[in-house]
Amino acid sequence: MRKKIVAGNWKMNMTVAEAKALVAGLKPELANFREVEVVVCPPFTALAAVSAELQGTNIDLGAQNMHWEKSGAYTGEVSPEMLRELFCHYVILGHSERRTYFHETDEIVNRKVKAALSWGLHPIVCVGETLQQREAGEVESVITTQVRGSLAGLSPREILDSVIAYEPVWAIGTGKTATSAQAQEVHALIRKILGQMFDPAVAQGVRIQYGGSMKPANARELLSMPDIDGGLIGGAALKADSFIAIAKAAI
Ligand code: PGA
Repeated sequence: MRKKIVAGNWKMNMTVAEAKALVAGLKPELANFREVEVVVCPPFTALAAVSAELQGTNIDLGAQNMHWEKSGAYTGEVSPEMLRELFCHYVILGHSERRTYFHETDEIVNRKVKAALSWGLHPIVCVGETLQQREAGEVESVITTQVRGSLAGLSPREILDSVIAYEPVWAIGTGKTATSAQAQEVHALIRKILGQMFDPAVAQGVRIQYGGSMKPANARELLSMPDIDGGLIGGAALKADSFIAIAKAAI
C-alpha cells in the first residue's frame, strides 16, 4: 500500500512572518495527522523558521530546488548539505517553472536527483507536458523522455525513496485541472515506464502525485484514482483551510 503524500509548493510566496502564520494555521489540524504524509515547501528564506515551527509535528519540510554540489563557487545557489542542516526531508526538483524559466534539462534534473538521494533527501521529481505538446499528441513521448532522463541511473532503492509529480504545464496555476481520467492515464503510463526501467514490482511502490490546480473541490476525485498517490499543491497551499481540506481528501 502506498501512503498518500500531499505537498504544498509555496513557490516565491511567503515572507518569514507570513510563513510562520501559515504554519500556525496548519498545525491544529495537521500536526498529529498520520493517515497521509504532509509536506510544506517554503522558499529558502523561510526554511529555517518553518523548520523550527514544525519540530515535534508530523508535517515534513521540503525545499523547492537545490544545486547538486555540496559547496563551492555557485553564487546564489543552495546545497543539499544546507537543506539537510535545516531538517528538510524533501526537495522538489525539475518543476516546470525551473525547466521553463531557468532552462533546467532532464540531465540537470538527473544530477540534482542523484545528489539529493546521496544526501538522504527525498526528491519530488516533476514531469509534465505543455498544452502544445498535448494537442500534438506528444504526451507519451514527452513523459517518457522526462521520466527516463530525470531518473536515469537510479537503483531500485533510490526510486522507491523518490516521489514523482505529474504536473501538466497547462494545468499549473491556470484553474484548468486535468480530468481524473486524463491524470490517471498519464500516472499509469509513468508507472509502466518505471516498470520497464526498474521492474513492475518496484514500480508499484513508487508514489506519483498529481499537480496542477488541485483544490478542495476536485481533490477527492483525483485522489481516488488508482495510480494517483497524492498531490503537489501550489495556489491552494497558500491558505491553511484549503490545504487542510486537500490533505483530508487524501485519506
Ligand atoms: P497550482 O501549482 O496548484 O497553483 O496549479 C501546482 C504546482 O506548480 O506545483
